[in-house]
Amino acid sequence: MSKEDDVLSKLDSKKLPQHVAIIMDGNGRWAKKRGLPRAAGHLAGVKAVRRIVKTSTNIGVKFLTLYAFSTENWKRPRKEVDAIMSLFKIYIKKEVSTFNKNDVRLNVIGNIGDLSDDLQEIIDNALKKTSKNKGLTFTLAINYGGRQEIINAVKNIVNDVEKGIIRKDVNESIISKYLYTSDLPDPDLLIRTSGEMRISNFLLWQLSYAEIWVTDTYWPDFKQAEYVKAILDYQNRQRRFGKHNG
Ligand code: IPE
Ligand code: IPE
Ligand code: MG
Repeated sequence: MSKEDDVLSKLDSKKLPQHVAIIMDGNGRWAKKRGLPRAAGHLAGVKAVRRIVKTSTNIGVKFLTLYAFSTENWKRPRKEVDAIMSLFKIYIKKEVSTFNKNDVRLNVIGNIGDLSDDLQEIIDNALKKTSKNKGLTFTLAINYGGRQEIINAVKNIVNDVEKGIIRKDVNESIISKYLYTSDLPDPDLLIRTSGEMRISNFLLWQLSYAEIWVTDTYWPDFKQAEYVKAILDYQNRQRRFGKHNG
């Protein structure tokens, strides 16, 4: 047994989180610490994404969702936004064959229609080419905002009520169905790297009862051992969902 498998064997396979969501934060600080441009941090961040997708598959996590670009991240300098967008293009295009090799289905959430045409094309192509895969569902949140997602859902619900497609007694399951995440279970575990104790407009509806785990490690330094540590900690939590502690 390799050292890496040894770490994985500590996990209780019956108590795995079905869906892990991660706020990948700290690329900029990682780069600054090394005297590098922020873009170098984002490039190192892509390597961490590759590692964590692979580890998720090895662990047997069924759904992994990564927050890659928020609706507020457009407020960053143009140069940084351009660097991130070109990394998306390179990464998604290049990764399709690996996704297929590892049975990973790519999924993308967010306001995709506002991304550049070439990025949209690359995304569409990757979604199609990986759509039949049955292993990990890997969701990238790009140009994603929890509030915008809810606004979008409300608009579509109003529209469908007006057209008589649905009745107007809206409930939880209808709202869930109109979110970008309609085909995903709610996250069980939320990980945030680089120490910030906030949600930053991520999956506002879906995270209602997620267990939260925050590490000071910057995203480019986040590795398998720490991922396993987060899941081990999750396995020792008592999830109550509002019920009493009996
Ligand atoms: C996360 O790292 C990546 C994105 C938000 C796109 P940051 O770029 O936010 O890194 P810090 O928070 O400035 O260190
Ligand atoms: C959250 O990180 C967004 C992503 C990880 C894509 P930010 O760095 O944008 O969040 P704030 O600004 O610290 O809240
Ligand atoms: Mg940040």
